[in-house]
Amino acid sequence: MSSLTVSEQEVSANATPAKIIQPAWVRALHWTNAVAMVLMIMSGWQIYNASPLFDFRFSSSLTLGGWLGGALLWHFAAMWLLMVNGLIYLALGLATGRFRKKLLPITPAGVIADTRAALTGKLSHEDLSKYNYVQKLLYAGVIVVGIVIVLSGLSIWKPVQLQYLTALFGGYEAARYVHFVCMALIVAFMVVHIALALLVPKSLRAMIIGR
Ligand code: HEM
Repeated sequence: MSSLTVSEQEVSANATPAKIIQPAWVRALHWTNAVAMVLMIMSGWQIYNASPLFDFRFSSSLTLGGWLGGALLWHFAAMWLLMVNGLIYLALGLATGRFRKKLLPITPAGVIADTRAALTGKLSHEDLSKYNYVQKLLYAGVIVVGIVIVLSGLSIWKPVQLQYLTALFGGYEAARYVHFVCMALIVAFMVVHIALALLVPKSLRAMIIGR
């Protein structure tokens, strides 16, 4: 007798031909971004600890670089990976029409309806190739936050050369707060994103990645 549950059997029966939701370039850029983000966050926390903006420090077990100088080296090295990877992602997302197809439109009514459906357990997971409105909002939102964290990072890295950019954020100190808040939003996004990814049943994931 098969050890599959009924729902897994149903999914297996429907699994051919497999529907590939994420093309290879999206997956490659996504995982490169994940590595770069983790390096940026952990080194950023070490930088923060040297001169905290708030009344707390991050545990040294979660930081990278050992001290301020080491952390800055990590931060500026991983920055290139993050920026080059991010620029390729933005260029391909726009050129292939993926952003338009996958993330738009985002309507307030759609977001409210899907939030309500999610909270009452009625959100449809039938077609995983289509994002619901909450997903669209979160994915589009984290892309915008990613752009803002890079711009605020550049403005605190080169506040003299990029003084107009720094001024746009309200000055060096304000840009530091913007940079930190963006980091917090990205970390919050990652926690939810990873939790939901782990909750998706393995059988459905196999369909998604076409295995
Ligand atoms: C091009 C991208 C980036 C550049 C140029 C950049 C640059 C910088 C610089 C120069 C600092 C030091 C600020 C200071 O001396 O007070 C800093 C701090 C920091 N960065 Fe970045 N950063 C970038 C991206 C990121 C990303 C993606 C994250 C995390 C997701 C991040 C997280 C942090 C954190 C948490 C701090 C410490 C905040 C503070 O105390 O000021 N950075 N960054």
